[in-house]
Amino acid sequence: RHRALVIVAAGSGTRLGHGMPKAAVKITDRTVLDHALDAVTEDLDVDLIVLVLPQDAHSPHQLAPNGHNLGQRSRAVLTVSGGDTRTESVGSGVRAVQHHAEQQSWAGAVHVLIHDAARALTPTSVFSRVLDALDSGAVSVIPALPVTDTIKRVDASERVAQTVPRQDLRAVQTPQGFTLELLQRAFAHIEGLSEAEAAVLTDEAMIVEDLGETVTVVEGHPHALKITTSIDLTTVRALIAEYDE
Ligand code: C5P
Repeated sequence: RHRALVIVAAGSGTRLGHGMPKAAVKITDRTVLDHALDAVTEDLDVDLIVLVLPQDAHSPHQLAPNGHNLGQRSRAVLTVSGGDTRTESVGSGVRAVQHHAEQQSWAGAVHVLIHDAARALTPTSVFSRVLDALDSGAVSVIPALPVTDTIKRVDASERVAQTVPRQDLRAVQTPQGFTLELLQRAFAHIEGLSEAEAAVLTDEAMIVEDLGETVTVVEGHPHALKITTSIDLTTVRALIAEYDE
């Protein structure tokens, strides 16, 4: 088997409000993307890394990985442009993996990890757990944690319709792992969806569920939180300060 890691970093960063792509925002003196790439250590056994970056002119400069040796272990490293939605960006990454696998005549299973650059402090151990589950035969794997808040479903007039039993809920993180074969089927399925149906897709596991395939859950990590708003940036900076103590 071969392994590819797709890192999506093509989001606009509108909700964070720094006027630049979220992956280019500096957490410390280093960008969100650079912190995310710290997980790609020598120990991480992947053959290909695909970085999905925004299409604008500044991004290649703002988002050039700094201080990493991604090509160690004779890994191939590719950069491609993303799209307007996360799903489109993941699609560009998956096409690059498919192309590379064909060019290199990869035989046997190809396992693909899809990771949000915005989960900048995700430890390497989470990547390994997902890869191990794929090696054990899972076709789709997501890291997740129990939720700590009580979650309610509301109706259109903001009245509580239902309380979902908390013990059944998980908050889902990335990297999410799939066989390339299943990802290709998932993206073929998306092409048949209406724009409204495609708009609610927040991860690839949702499509896999639609296809009736089993999604396996492994343990996530609290540090794999997604940087979305400024409070997340504050949290992540505090965590880094703690590492450095
Ligand atoms: O917007 P959100 O925080 O859900 O984005 C999750 C990840 O997907 C981020 O790393 C972001 O850069 C990426 N993304 C992307 N292309 C988009 C939207 C989001 O690569 N059009």
